[in-house]
Amino acid sequence: MPKRRDILAIVLIVLPWTLLITVWHQNAIAPLLAIRKDDGVEGKREAGGQAQDSKEYCASDKDIVEVVRTEYVYTRPPPWSDVLPTIHIITPTYSRPVQKAELTRLANTFLHVPNLHWILVEDSQRRTPLVTRLLRETGLNYTHLNVETPRNYKLRGDTRDPRIPRGTMQRNLALRWLRETFNANNSQPGIVYFADDDNTYSLELFEEMRSTRKVSVWPVAFVGGLRYESPKVNAAGKVYGWKTVFDPHRPFAIDMAGFAINLRLILFKPQAYFKLRGVKGGYQESSLLRELVTLNDLEPKAANCTKILVWHTRTEKPVLVNEGKKGFTDPNVEI
Ligand code: UGA
Ligand code: MN
Repeated sequence: MPKRRDILAIVLIVLPWTLLITVWHQNAIAPLLAIRKDDGVEGKREAGGQAQDSKEYCASDKDIVEVVRTEYVYTRPPPWSDVLPTIHIITPTYSRPVQKAELTRLANTFLHVPNLHWILVEDSQRRTPLVTRLLRETGLNYTHLNVETPRNYKLRGDTRDPRIPRGTMQRNLALRWLRETFNANNSQPGIVYFADDDNTYSLELFEEMRSTRKVSVWPVAFVGGLRYESPKVNAAGKVYGWKTVFDPHRPFAIDMAGFAINLRLILFKPQAYFKLRGVKGGYQESSLLRELVTLNDLEPKAANCTKILVWHTRTEKPVLVNEGKKGFTDPNVEI
């Protein structure tokens, strides 16, 4: 047993040393903290000596653009809002070398959009582990479906036969899922949008489509051999035709990426599906839209169809854009 006197002696020896070390340590880090606090000031003082020679090749203080700091957002996706309509995004997808890259890029876009529900439909016999894992890891609200396009509907080799629609059965399955899941009379407000897995979507696009009452429309870049295709809009803000080179006489000469539909309209017209057979190239969109609306019902978005918010892109083949009729689309429109 140590005696009381010994304990006292130890305390008296250790205590002064502890105090000494603490004070010494604080003195050592205090200047570091001071430098961090007024980094800028120190920096300027140091630069003072070299100011003369550095003037010629360094930007002056006035030239330094204000740094915009973005707060970190810790929630992915944004919190669910009770007031915003849900956007149901229907995406057909199929296995190929770039599939995971495309879906990752798409998921990264969707993670910025509030109240989004992603219906991803695989063109496959069963749901694949790759897509299953990817969806689970995104944290998005999603529904994972699958249906395989019969072989006789698929593209043969690399020839692009326009009579063979791509992603049609998958989109139709998603439409059926919506009709089986939501009740026409008391469903939550919602918008339906067909987003192919290889296009590029601006975040603004989703906010534009959220107010769709029946069917909203906007331009799409890099389709039909043009810089962009667009609905024609008159001074009264009504759609009266189509700025397209490829078959402008289609009832709805618009790409899949160029319109969104109110969920209620989908639910109230349960017979409306994309036609699979006997549909000429470019007529797929019309085959659904003509069951839902007339030209007069269309609601132009994206500043009366003057802004490009979606780009039809294809990673497997280079996009060749020729202007068709010269000057047909406005060269001042930024794409
Ligand atoms: C154009 C339109 O932009 C498409 O919306 C339309 O479905 C297609 O033409 C058509 O009518 O055939 P394009 O770029 O030529 O699109 O087609 P892809 O992007 O190759 O395919 C459209 C979607 O279907 C993609 O999301 C793709 O992943 C999917 N797809 C494609 C399948 O699910 N299975 C396939 O065998 C091929
Ligand atoms: Mn595509």
